Amino acid sequence: MHILDQAFLHGGDYNPDQWLDRPDILEQDLELMRQAQINCVSVGIFAWTALEPEEGVYRMDWLKTVVKRLYDNGVYTILATPSGARPAWLAQRYPEVLRVNAGGQRNHMGERHNHCLSSPVYRAKVYQMNRRLAETFRDDPAVILWHLSNEYSGSCYCEHCRQAFCAWLKETYGSLERLNHEWWTAFWSHTYTSWEQIEPPFTDGEQSTLGLKLAWERFTTDQTVDFCRQEVKALRDGGSKLPVTTNLMGFSPVLNYYKFRDVLDIVSWDNYPDWNMQADDTETAISAAMAHDLMRSIKREPFLLMESTPSSLNWKPVSKLKKPGMHMLASLQAIAHGSDSVQYFQWRKGRGGTEKFHGAVVDHYGKADTRVFKEVSQLGLRLKQLSQLRPPLLHSDVRPEVALLFDWENRWALENSAGPRNIGMHYVETVKDHYRAFWQQGIPVDIIDPETALDRYRLVVAPLLYLTRSDIETKLCDFVAQGGTLVGTYWSGIVNRDDLCYLGGTPHGLMDLFGLRSEEIDALTDTEHNLMSWNGRTYQLTDLCDRVQVHEADVLAVYEQDFYQGEAVLTRHAFGQGQAYYLASRAEPAFYLDFYEQLQTRLKLKQALPGQTLPHGVTAGLRESQQGQVIILQNYNQHEVLLRLSQNLRDLESAKTYTAQLKLQPYEVRFMGLL
Ligand code: GLA
Ligand code: ZN
Repeated sequence: MHILDQAFLHGGDYNPDQWLDRPDILEQDLELMRQAQINCVSVGIFAWTALEPEEGVYRMDWLKTVVKRLYDNGVYTILATPSGARPAWLAQRYPEVLRVNAGGQRNHMGERHNHCLSSPVYRAKVYQMNRRLAETFRDDPAVILWHLSNEYSGSCYCEHCRQAFCAWLKETYGSLERLNHEWWTAFWSHTYTSWEQIEPPFTDGEQSTLGLKLAWERFTTDQTVDFCRQEVKALRDGGSKLPVTTNLMGFSPVLNYYKFRDVLDIVSWDNYPDWNMQADDTETAISAAMAHDLMRSIKREPFLLMESTPSSLNWKPVSKLKKPGMHMLASLQAIAHGSDSVQYFQWRKGRGGTEKFHGAVVDHYGKADTRVFKEVSQLGLRLKQLSQLRPPLLHSDVRPEVALLFDWENRWALENSAGPRNIGMHYVETVKDHYRAFWQQGIPVDIIDPETALDRYRLVVAPLLYLTRSDIETKLCDFVAQGGTLVGTYWSGIVNRDDLCYLGGTPHGLMDLFGLRSEEIDALTDTEHNLMSWNGRTYQLTDLCDRVQVHEADVLAVYEQDFYQGEAVLTRHAFGQGQAYYLASRAEPAFYLDFYEQLQTRLKLKQALPGQTLPHGVTAGLRESQQGQVIILQNYNQHEVLLRLSQNLRDLESAKTYTAQLKLQPYEVRFMGLL
């Protein structure tokens, strides 16, 4: 059986290439890994120069030795392709591999993630390297997974990229007439009369043709996915059949990660929340939970946590230590949301470079008697035991009945727009406003894009759906007509996929569904608010106030201030067999909890602990398989909490049963089953 099938992975980024002159250290690593219960490390992520010190001269021997020594000591390898940072000789000989920035200037040699993904030379060199790696390790039982590059991101504005962009545009739009029409280029006389006139949106170039900006962002994703595909092809041509992953970055703004769905066999990601930066970690926990759910939803399968810090980070304003117990909690949070691993950046602190003070399992001190090392070892031991849990936790699914719609393309369009609120549309924060209410109730959520089928869900929440594409309007109408419940908001259905405003009323394609039409939208400054009362409570409204003309919907709440006082702000419309709610403004967090609690009473959505009220800072996750369900209770408070149980529970680790109440210690995580 494969290790990926047997146990939660526990390990992290390992850089023996930085210690090749210290065989004694590499030897110590093996013993320390054993003590820390490490079963898997990621090797070679930035090792290009060690692997190819001169052009065409490959040195794989040291890597083979390291991989073998690890394997002999019970540690598997996730092998990286080193394309995330290139050797100096490569940049010196082929300056075209260096990225050109948005101002049109070519970067100097240095840093990482700053190469051109269109450069034929870069692609050829990466191909040769990957193929060589695959040929060397394809039959090696120690290697379990390919780690493609590292945190793909950013775009390059060089001539190769411009040409690739033009080819992409021709393919996408077919004709220049169509492109001019979709981009509304008659505005300021920007009509293109030849493809060659089209440039990327340089900072001192075209910033006002919004269709161009959006196309560039889409192209950047497609070009990165294409580069990633080329990396995989080289591995396949080299004879490797191993699965591939790349480490993504949660809600990072640059790439539409859903587009990696088909190229990756497994989704993995790097998670660096602001733990212990505030007295109360609840908001940090909710943000991290939401990012885990986003990453899991790309393939709607279990994922891998590829990086996290065992202690502090050195790139945030202050390098805050994770308090005792937080490492266990934060790591098991990933497991609760569908991860089958806990991996770190980094195994051992290097002696130089900007990451020398970044948290690691092994400090410069070099021994096992540190707080961090002990906490890592404890977690390793627990993960080992959890791998055997019954019903199984490993590989089990998270199968929500709630979907939150999140679309990177919508995010780009919202952020590129001038008006209605240039001081912040708060898209991700607004998605989180809704998400929080489910987290607080222990209701699992998928975070899906407009291309994901809706048939698994009973409730769909689509906040700020400004740009509509992929027939999402029809999908939402069908979903509700067939009995689903939808929650939509202000500033939805405003523009089409090319950012052209819809004519004839908004929300486009959704007016019959919501039973209303949006007439105009008022933007508030950061210090202003309006109010609404619903169900006996009054809530503040911020950001934007949509004035709607209600045709058919029930008005559940009205604005209480300004000239639109008395007009609808929350409505409900029965449509087919289902219901569509419309929220015309951004409400304070308390509203969403009250609202979704009421909806839960009616819909009885799948909940980790049915009917259970959870105290502040506590949530419950749910992983399921054919053999049963595992409920994962998590306490993010630094104090003990008491749960008065609505159901009888059994602790799956200790076999203890709980009938009336259960205490959770500070930062405690419990794996429970219903009795
Ligand atoms: C990223 C990178 C790692 C390392 C860590 C530091 O996630 O992938 O190489 O730089 O950040 O937190
Ligand atoms: Zn380029």
